[in-house]
Amino acid sequence: MSGNHVKACLRKVASRVPPGQSIVEVGSWLGGTAAQLCLGTKDSGHHAELHLYDAFQANLADALKATRQGTPLIDKMDPLPLVKRTLAPFKHHIVYHKGNTKNGCRYDGPLIGLYVDDASKTDPAWTVAVETFFPHFAEDVWVVLMDYYWYEKTGNPKHRIQQIFIDAHPEFGFVERIYHGKRKTSSAIFRRAACVC
Ligand SMILES: C[S@@+](CC[C@H](N)C(=O)[O-])C[C@H]1O[C@@H](n2cnc3c(N)ncnc32)[C@H](O)[C@@H]1O
Repeated sequence: MSGNHVKACLRKVASRVPPGQSIVEVGSWLGGTAAQLCLGTKDSGHHAELHLYDAFQANLADALKATRQGTPLIDKMDPLPLVKRTLAPFKHHIVYHKGNTKNGCRYDGPLIGLYVDDASKTDPAWTVAVETFFPHFAEDVWVVLMDYYWYEKTGNPKHRIQQIFIDAHPEFGFVERIYHGKRKTSSAIFRRAACVC
């Protein structure tokens, strides 16, 4: 994640999740987005349970990037203990789900009020995500797809998978496009039965 605007948007959307619903993030990496989600739920005055899904295994490129950014990691390192330490000060109810979602994943928490995905950008991961989480979406769920516009950069039809899904489900109303400064990519926020914020 990059940019204060992205952080502010995630925090704002998290603050709108009603009591009793959860937040799911797929692709939580070192917990940067998750920290904003914790802050947002704190703003709301109640604590939406947070479910974080990630392989929690650094590859060499991830490790080098994190190290350059000030978080020393090595190839194949499990960053989960570090993520837990980072997020502990929020004293938030967080459920960690470690594993590659391509191998399948499960969700048995409350209705999902906010779904954030920064990982399932191609199949089979996207189809697994839809099959796992969609049945648990609250009626007016918020959906934030962190790299929704990736296909615009790559032109690769495989990267249109999220767009194809949204086009097939017009009940997910477009709310906002969020530009991320340096990475020249952008996210999209949708809401089912959209009431634009
Ligand atoms: C771009 S990073 C997420 C950054 C994070 N949202 C942030 O800025 O705080 C993508 C993460 O998704 C994870 N990931 C990608 N595909 C995955 C999959 N199929 N299953 C589990 N994790 C996956 C990667 O391991 C990585 O940690």
